[in-house]
Amino acid sequence: MSRQKIVAGNWKMNKSLQDAKMLVEMITNQVNDFDEVTKIIIPPFPYLNTISEQLAKKENFFLGAQNCHTNANGAFTGEVSANMLNSVGCHYVLVGHSERRQYFKEKEADFVLKIKEALKNNISPIFCVGETIHERKTDNHFKVITEQLTTVLKEFTVTEFSKFIIAYEPVWAIGTGETATAAQAQEMHAFIRGIITDIYDSAIAGNVSILYGGSCNAQNAQELFACKDVDGGLIGGASLNADDFCKIIFSF
Ligand code: PGA
Repeated sequence: MSRQKIVAGNWKMNKSLQDAKMLVEMITNQVNDFDEVTKIIIPPFPYLNTISEQLAKKENFFLGAQNCHTNANGAFTGEVSANMLNSVGCHYVLVGHSERRQYFKEKEADFVLKIKEALKNNISPIFCVGETIHERKTDNHFKVITEQLTTVLKEFTVTEFSKFIIAYEPVWAIGTGETATAAQAQEMHAFIRGIITDIYDSAIAGNVSILYGGSCNAQNAQELFACKDVDGGLIGGASLNADDFCKIIFSF
């Protein structure tokens, strides 16, 4: 996958099926012919199949899932495998989101297994990293991001990594209304490209799309997306409103 402009909407645990269908309809109506940006809709599991059908004929719109299991199938009540996601038309899956780390105690070893399953099923991982406010205030943010990335990426070959998207999501900015400044985002995105250069090489690092996430909205997206190393956004709250999400898509 080469470097792209991407806006992904992570709906988290929100919307009814009826509202979800309407939101997709409103978004695709507004931006369907704006194909220079890759748009990824990441709804809750029960709506994937319906939204997959809605997106099928749309220009540069793709479906993503919020999670997948570490195993291919079996007796794991309540879980969803990457194979299932592929069968309903998912092209992307979030892995390593801070809410999975915090509330579900997922660790690097889980992320590696989930990403392996995703890749086996032709699904690209959107691998999320980010520091807490305490880690930033104690000046440990670069160290934390380095650890989060290297522990996982060392398990993947160059060919495997070429399917990745990275999302930098400072935990203190997620759902708080407090966005990283453009300077903070650019600084960390450039740093992440540096780590990827060290693990693989500069051509690989130059090719990967790195998204910013954390209270990115219709007002601040333009400034964030103007940064050299910010290739787009992973949007939570603002992706639940069609006008806001579309404004973000038009912010490049
Ligand atoms: P937010 O969420 O835009 O609501 O801060 C971003 C995310 O968690 O992906």
